[in-house]
Amino acid sequence: MIGRLNHVAIAVNNLDAAIATYRDLLGATVSDRLAQPDHGVTVVFIELPNTKIELLEALGHSSPIAKFLERNPDGGIHHICYEVADVIAARDQLIQGGARVLGDGTPRIGAHGKPVIFLHPKDFNGTLVELEQV
Ligand code: CO
Repeated sequence: MIGRLNHVAIAVNNLDAAIATYRDLLGATVSDRLAQPDHGVTVVFIELPNTKIELLEALGHSSPIAKFLERNPDGGIHHICYEVADVIAARDQLIQGGARVLGDGTPRIGAHGKPVIFLHPKDFNGTLVELEQV
């Protein structure tokens, strides 16, 4: 069902500092900032030859990453994203198999303009998993 690793997302408290680390220290190309008020985050993407890194900063008062950043003040890996051909088919198959989909299970439009769902970390070895239809 799952295909390529689309990205690894890292939540950060200070996006400017994280951008500087990736751009200046690691020599990576960093995208422009993209505010996603619907998701409560501001993101940038770092394009690597084989995948992407997504840096997430909280946006607004009820950001879904606020609690995570309270527990991880230095930032940390927040989720990983796998590609799927059909997010609805994947969702239905996963629910059938006993996995939990976050929210009401309706795909939302993610940072790449593609439908995404998130899967409960307790069902995936303590890792929040995003599935993106490509
Ligand atoms: Co993501």
